[in-house]
Amino acid sequence: MKKRDLREKYIIPFGGIGPLYSKPISIVKGRMQFVFDEKGKKYLDAFAGVATVSIGHSHPHFVKKLTEQIGQYLHTPSLYLHPSLGVYAQRLIKKVQSANPQLATCFFTNSGSEANELAAIIAKNYTGSHEFIALGHSYHGRTLMTMALTGQSNWRHSLPYPTGVHFAPANYTYRRPQGLTPRQFSQRCVDELESVIKTSTSGKIAGFYAEPINGVGGVITPEPEYFPSAYAIVKKYNGLFIADEVQTGVGRTGKHFLGIEKWGVRPDIVTMAKGLGNGYPIGAVITTRKIADSVKGKLHYNTFGGSPAQMAAAGAVLDVLEQEKLAENAHVVGSYLISQLEKLAERSPYVGEARGRGFMIGVEMVKDKKSKEPACELTMRLLESCKDQGLLIGKGGMAGNVLRIKPPLCLNKKDADFIVETLDQSLRQTAKT
Ligand SMILES: Cc1ncc(COP(=O)(O)O)c(C=O)c1O
Repeated sequence: MKKRDLREKYIIPFGGIGPLYSKPISIVKGRMQFVFDEKGKKYLDAFAGVATVSIGHSHPHFVKKLTEQIGQYLHTPSLYLHPSLGVYAQRLIKKVQSANPQLATCFFTNSGSEANELAAIIAKNYTGSHEFIALGHSYHGRTLMTMALTGQSNWRHSLPYPTGVHFAPANYTYRRPQGLTPRQFSQRCVDELESVIKTSTSGKIAGFYAEPINGVGGVITPEPEYFPSAYAIVKKYNGLFIADEVQTGVGRTGKHFLGIEKWGVRPDIVTMAKGLGNGYPIGAVITTRKIADSVKGKLHYNTFGGSPAQMAAAGAVLDVLEQEKLAENAHVVGSYLISQLEKLAERSPYVGEARGRGFMIGVEMVKDKKSKEPACELTMRLLESCKDQGLLIGKGGMAGNVLRIKPPLCLNKKDADFIVETLDQSLRQTAKT
């Protein structure tokens, strides 16, 4: 049986898990920012396994540290002490303290969904409230609670979800009502947030979940004043500010370790996953001592969370991030790449907007710039054409019309030029067909 047939026969047929292309590719090898298919064709991986490969595919230091650990032993539960759990936790906490010096303690999971789920449990315990505000277009995971927190109909099933989640509008400047400046629209979103709390909740919320830059929903990038104002509202109603850094963390947005640092607010809880392990499964919830004390002694357990292999993988990621100054690279090369994509948006009638920070980049494709109608088929044709030319990018947004460029953080300027040239050429070819 062929790979595709085997997969179709034995894997539950959810939508959204691919294979992505009409002629799917089969990846057999990865080296830094590149992957190779079984015929040896090389691709620049500008989607990094959905924003997950942070320091590069099979980075030699990462391979060394992880294989050394596996050679010793792969797994031991947190029932026993092992040398690396506390050491890595201390390192991670030091990193996130640049967003909030009060962040002092953490817990490890296997995924972003689990991390967000645990954040909800902690926030409910601490505040005594079960009500949360999330943002429209958000994506927080695939457990029942995190699906309830996800603000995209296509990612929700018709199921009875946990109650208490309410949605405030995303600060989606590109699709703001006519006549409002970006600043006015940002203020309107904050006013709506307050109105949702006042009209839909008891007035005392457990927390507010936010991606510092939205990921799956189309790289919606807020105005600089949005989060500081939203934070003030969340605090006014006693809520915890929960920064979902599953995509934006580990330097992806450039310069800073966390995306929320860009917006200058101090999260009470940070959730991370994806880039933390460079593809090795690990998630984390980090919070303050005071908040963590609210769950002191309550039974909780995660079989794989904090395992020696997780710690080795994640420790190696931090080593490389620091040694190779990858967050700085994401800032420098990412800013260059965004500026080149903005130029592409100026010359192409189909590129509505290029946006993002660092290597968290979205390019919104439209049928024309006046109506801004999503160009969904064109987006898919572009993805296919780029793939044929050796470039892997992703797509997102509720309509599936936003190209997502989220490469490993080691991408260089030459790669950035290749991305823009390939997109430009693909646009010229595919827009005609
Ligand atoms: C912002 C965000 N939060 C949470 C998740 C869920 O993470 P996971 O797939 O590891 O459960 C994702 C996954 O894409 C994400 O992008």
